[in-house]
Amino acid sequence: MNRSTYIIDKIKIVTSNFDIPPERIDLSIGQPGTSLLPLAALAQAAQHCLTQKNPYILAYGAEQGNGYFHEALAGFLSEQYNFKVDPDQLFTTAGISQGLDFICRLFTRPGDTIFVEKPTYSLALGIFADCRLNVVGLPMDEDGLIIEVLEEALAHQTPVFLYTIPTFQNPAGCTLSSARRKKLVQLSQEHNFLIVADEVYQLLAYTSAPPSPMAKYTEAATVISLGSFSKILAPGLRLGWIQTHPDLMNRLTTSGLIISGGGLNPFTSAIVQSAIELGLQEKQLSYLKEVYLQRKNALNSALRMNLPESVSFVEPGGGYFTWLQFPPHVDTEKLIPEAHKHDVSFAAGSFFSPQGDLKNYLRLSFAYYEEPKLKEGAERLAAVINRQPF
Ligand SMILES: Cc1ncc(COP(=O)(O)O)c(C=O)c1O
Repeated sequence: MNRSTYIIDKIKIVTSNFDIPPERIDLSIGQPGTSLLPLAALAQAAQHCLTQKNPYILAYGAEQGNGYFHEALAGFLSEQYNFKVDPDQLFTTAGISQGLDFICRLFTRPGDTIFVEKPTYSLALGIFADCRLNVVGLPMDEDGLIIEVLEEALAHQTPVFLYTIPTFQNPAGCTLSSARRKKLVQLSQEHNFLIVADEVYQLLAYTSAPPSPMAKYTEAATVISLGSFSKILAPGLRLGWIQTHPDLMNRLTTSGLIISGGGLNPFTSAIVQSAIELGLQEKQLSYLKEVYLQRKNALNSALRMNLPESVSFVEPGGGYFTWLQFPPHVDTEKLIPEAHKHDVSFAAGSFFSPQGDLKNYLRLSFAYYEEPKLKEGAERLAAVINRQPF
């Protein structure tokens, strides 16, 4: 998240415009470039929605979210996931961040333990800190969370939930294998903990289809799958969904927040319903997949050509990120001032660990810039790295 503050006529205006020095290529930015935000499609969807003469889109919403929106969303997801999604298992959120915060407040108390992958989505750590949770990180390999290590941890401690980003993980880019997904569900049932699956990158596959999302396993009543329109349509919509078993759904819909304010985002979800029904969401997703594939290739081939052999990475098959591994003694945070002098930036590895370790890693995003800038950014970064004594 980046914000800028401007003073205009002595009035302080805080905006979401980026405050990056104009020459800098900031490869830490994990959001779509502004040219990818679908203004015209959403204008068309809003026009379609607002001319339906349905005042209910402006009334308090049904607790679970609008059923017509859920019908449209379930149809879209069923096609994308290749299995039938039941609209009754969907709950509208204001995005995954809000959904995560909501789940923490409903299912945990301060001091409770949760397990996360190490590395994990850095900004989720802030949500867990707000809820004063005790966060334990578990290691991953190229196939995602290492289940044997989870089993060992479960012998000593049961978390309230395990937070996982199973597909095209942020920041590591890896994907939890199908076998591990099944074993994870089995363990959650045996040990009685929830799986909170952040499936934000599930639909952004560029080279081959990933395993089915954790949403496939909701009959287990231990799985909560979180989805979002942030990466497939626009983050400013603040719209997402939870897919889960009716028992868990009941806890969401009877919460104080929902009873007081009604279901979340009835208006935005009505516009997105139109975007889905008009085929605009599907079109945008296909377009994004083409663009991101090109961007991923541009960044990764420039890295391969310019980085020293001591720095390694696995090329991701989807998502937003490439995760670089340095020799163990390197602290990438210390490279930042030098990188800034050369007008490039990145996210240091320690940011993605609950303990602040993983110092010998860094994360690069290929979502924000077009190919020439990604290539230039990779070359600048490699020049900084090649000047170091490792
Ligand atoms: C893993 C992960 N989860 C959640 C989010 C934020 O999702 P939302 O915009 O739906 O709150 C991001 C955004 O970068 C992310 O990478």
